[in-house]
Amino acid sequence: MNYSVVVVAAGKGERMGAQMNKVLLPLQGVPIIVHTLRIFEQDDACSGIVLVVKEAEMPAFNQILSAYHLKRKVQIVSGGKERQDSVFQGLLALENSGETIVLIHDAARPCVPKEKISGVVQAAFRTGAAILAVRVKDTIKEATGHQVRKTLDRSSLWAAQKPQAFRLSAILEAHRTGRKQGLNVTDDASLVEQLGQTVAIVEGSYHNIKITTPEDMLIARQFIKGREETNAYRPRI
Ligand code: CTP
Ligand code: MG
Repeated sequence: MNYSVVVVAAGKGERMGAQMNKVLLPLQGVPIIVHTLRIFEQDDACSGIVLVVKEAEMPAFNQILSAYHLKRKVQIVSGGKERQDSVFQGLLALENSGETIVLIHDAARPCVPKEKISGVVQAAFRTGAAILAVRVKDTIKEATGHQVRKTLDRSSLWAAQKPQAFRLSAILEAHRTGRKQGLNVTDDASLVEQLGQTVAIVEGSYHNIKITTPEDMLIARQFIKGREETNAYRPRI
């Protein structure tokens, strides 16, 4: 079950406070974006990767792709002001590819386990739209300002992750409709939901964090280290 993936990397990384795009920061000696791209590069079911970056950062990303031998599957396109605009540009690059299923992934999620990727791809082949999500561990309050309005029922709450997987034609249509209606979302599945279509949940992994603030770097480093150690102990056959 093949798929193509749009990896969005055209953000500013403001909440990281590093004065540069966070996905270019090193993690275990390798830029975050390289960890993320390698996952798809090494997946035989992945037929192509569209990497979406800021126009001004294209030379930097191109250099990284060359240095880490990642050019084989990757095409680079330029992104937009909001994440949603960047995703749309990535989807347009695939519009005439003949691909059935497209994944949308954040460059800032370098720890997604590969079995979760095949899980969400399979679900999208079955249902048309699927996301990875984990059960919420904290009790979530809805508030007005700093005053609690109500406590939500945790047993029905899920935290949505990426990648999210869709039929290419359906997600393009959802994005086009969203743009017409001026919707601004950080979650592509919600555009599909707006059209009244169902979205399946595939149980994700708590390892699959999005690197957003500096402390996330510490956690991601441990997860990446753990993965490397596990690989080192795996018998080579
Ligand atoms: N992204 C993008 N284009 C944008 C904004 C975000 O491609 N205009 C990408 C980011 O590069 C990131 C992913 O969307 O991989 C998730 O967004 P987020 O974690 O918010 O990253 P940033 O927008 O870079 O960070 P911040 O919001 O702190 O500035
Ligand atoms: Mg952002």
